[in-house]
Amino acid sequence: MRAMLVVVLLVLASVGCGAPAGPDAAANGGSEAGKVAAPAGPDPAKLQSALADPLRPEEDRARDADRKPAEVLAFFGIAEGMRVADLQATGGFYTELLSSAVGGDGMVYAQNNAFVLARFAEEPLTTRLTRLSDAGRRNIERIDAELDEMELPADLDAAILVRFYHDLFWLPTPDGDQADRAEFLRRVHDALRPGGVFGIIDHHAEEGSGARDALDPREGLHRIDAELVRQEVLAAGFELAGESDLLANPDDTRDWNIFADGAVRRDKTDRFVFKFVKPR
Ligand SMILES: C[S@@+](CC[C@H](N)C(=O)[O-])C[C@H]1O[C@@H](n2cnc3c(N)ncnc32)[C@H](O)[C@@H]1O
Repeated sequence: MRAMLVVVLLVLASVGCGAPAGPDAAANGGSEAGKVAAPAGPDPAKLQSALADPLRPEEDRARDADRKPAEVLAFFGIAEGMRVADLQATGGFYTELLSSAVGGDGMVYAQNNAFVLARFAEEPLTTRLTRLSDAGRRNIERIDAELDEMELPADLDAAILVRFYHDLFWLPTPDGDQADRAEFLRRVHDALRPGGVFGIIDHHAEEGSGARDALDPREGLHRIDAELVRQEVLAAGFELAGESDLLANPDDTRDWNIFADGAVRRDKTDRFVFKFVKPR
């Protein structure tokens, strides 16, 4: 009996601290955390119901089948009450879902840098946040800051960087330089609590290609070699807690620009999903 209690407590402790649930479990739409029904663990049913929120725009819903956001957030261990940063949120597809997932006791920080705000994000993000605020959502805060200068709140439970790591190799700061990636990673690492999750999704480039295809969309393919991302994030002091094939597409030849054809195929790429954690 006593041994069982210890096991239960250990499971609850690992869930509460966002310890790696097996990637396969989460990829199957569930997670070890979900199975023990711990209040602090991800609840796959609740995450799925966030997709059906009537507030969500039709344009977002149309992307769910290819982006599988409920499964992705379960894999990252996102749960009610958490404080999560959506890094380079752009128009806020994930910001809105995170806001539903963490609920009124949680908080979402939607960060964007000046270039992305000016080119892509200002109007759609403002429209989205106004709509949510008008509907009574109070758990989203906007952070407009460069990646290597941003001041994130302390003790975050998670941070996600979705389809953006490749942009770190060309996107200019207001000074005309690229953001300092090591400094960016240091800031994410500092902001997370021990055991906090750093989830990264991006479009696969050809294996072994490094940053070759991670250029401005006019010149490159908007893709990145997963191994380069893994090495840089590990070098910043994170541990790899899991990798998911949720967004894998073996038919993707990885040799086309994801914004080709007016972006109609942008959600059809072969994508890697890494779950890093800040060691305890
Ligand atoms: C694809 S967004 C990712 C946004 C957000 N994290 C998400 O998952 O929805 C990241 C980058 O895509 C690029 N981008 C966005 N819209 C674009 C467009 N219409 N044409 C070319 N590039 C675009 C920008 O470089 C932007 O910073």
